[in-house]
Amino acid sequence: MARATAELDADAAGIARAAALLQAGGTVAFPTETVYGLGADASNPDAVAAIFAAKGRPSTNPLIVHLTDATAAEALAEWPATAATLAARFWPGPLTLVLPRRAHAALAPAISAGRPSLALRVPSAPVALALLAAVGRPLAAPSANRSGRISPTTAAHVRAGLDGRIDAVVDGGPCAVGLESTIVDLTGPPRLLRPGGVAAEALEAALGGPLLPPPTPVGGGGAQPSPGLFASHYAPRARLRLNATAARPGEVLLGFGPVAGVMSLSATGDLAEAAGRLFAELHALDDGRAKVIAVAPIPEVGLGRAINDRLRRAAAPRPGDEDL
Ligand code: TXA
Ligand code: MG
Repeated sequence: MARATAELDADAAGIARAAALLQAGGTVAFPTETVYGLGADASNPDAVAAIFAAKGRPSTNPLIVHLTDATAAEALAEWPATAATLAARFWPGPLTLVLPRRAHAALAPAISAGRPSLALRVPSAPVALALLAAVGRPLAAPSANRSGRISPTTAAHVRAGLDGRIDAVVDGGPCAVGLESTIVDLTGPPRLLRPGGVAAEALEAALGGPLLPPPTPVGGGGAQPSPGLFASHYAPRARLRLNATAARPGEVLLGFGPVAGVMSLSATGDLAEAAGRLFAELHALDDGRAKVIAVAPIPEVGLGRAINDRLRRAAAPRPGDEDL
C-alpha cells in the first residue's frame, strides 16, 4: 500500500484539501486536543477498511466516530439522560461516550466491529472541528499510530509510524491534552472503559454518583471483556520499569516531581503537564539509546490515573514475548 503521504498545513487551504481527500474515501491524519487521529469517512466501508489496513488493527477492535456536535450524536445513537448530562458538560472535549447504535445509523458496519454500540466524540481542537465541518460527514478516527504502538501527539510521530500508508497528515502542532479521551460506556449503568483526558472524578461529580470500574485488561491472546483493552498497548520498543526513583545501569530515567531524570514529565508535579508530555517523551527516549526506560512514580488521582493506565500497558508483557 506504499503511496506518498502529503503534508498539509492546518490553514484554510490545507483543511479544504484534507476534506476533499476524505470525501473521496481517503485516509487523513489530523490533530485533536488529545492525540492525532487517523480519519476516514465513517459512512464509506472502503475508507473505513483502509484505516484498519494502515494501522494493522484487528477487525475486532471498533472505531470512535467523531462529530461536530451532540445533535449529530443523538441521530446515530440512543441518548439516555446520562449522555445529555455528560455531553452538555464535557463536549466538545476529550470524552467518548459508548451508546446503543440506532438501527438506521448510516455508518460502515466495521466501525462497530459487530457490536450493537457506537463510540462517539465531539473533539474541541479547532482544526478537528473545522475539518469535520468541511467534510460534512462523521469521521471514524482511531489514534494515528500502528496498532499497539505509542499514540502520536505530533505530525512527526504520525509519519514515524504511518508514512507511505495513508494519504495525508494535517500538521496542527502538538496536541494540548496529549492523552486519549476518557471512554464511558452508557449502554448500562455508567462504566469507565478507559481513563483519559477528562478525570473520572469530574465525570462522577457531573453524574452525581460513582462510575463502575474498567474491566480488567487481559493478555493479547484471550477473549476481550472490552475491545481494545489489551494489557499490552502503547508499547515503545524499549522496556519500561515503573515507580523508579533512580536509574539502574543501562536505563534512562523519566522523572516527575522530586524525581529528576534525563527528562521530566513535570518538574513541579503538575499532572496536566505530565499528561501532555507523556507520549512525546516516551517517543523521544525510545530512540535505541537505552533498553529500559525507568519512570518515576505518578500519583493515582485525576489525570494521574490515565497516565498510570498508559504506563502499565506500555510496561506489560507483549503479545509474542513468549517467542523471544
Ligand atoms: O482521544 C481519542 O479518543 C483518540 C482521538 C483520535 O479521538 N482516539 C482514540 O481511538 O484513542 P482508538 O481507536 O485508538 O481508541 C478507541 C478505543 C479502543 O480501545 C476501542 O476498542 C474503543 O475505543 N471502542 C470503540 N468503539 C467501542 C464500542 N462500541 N464499545 C466499546 N469500546 C469501543
Ligand atoms: Mg489508540
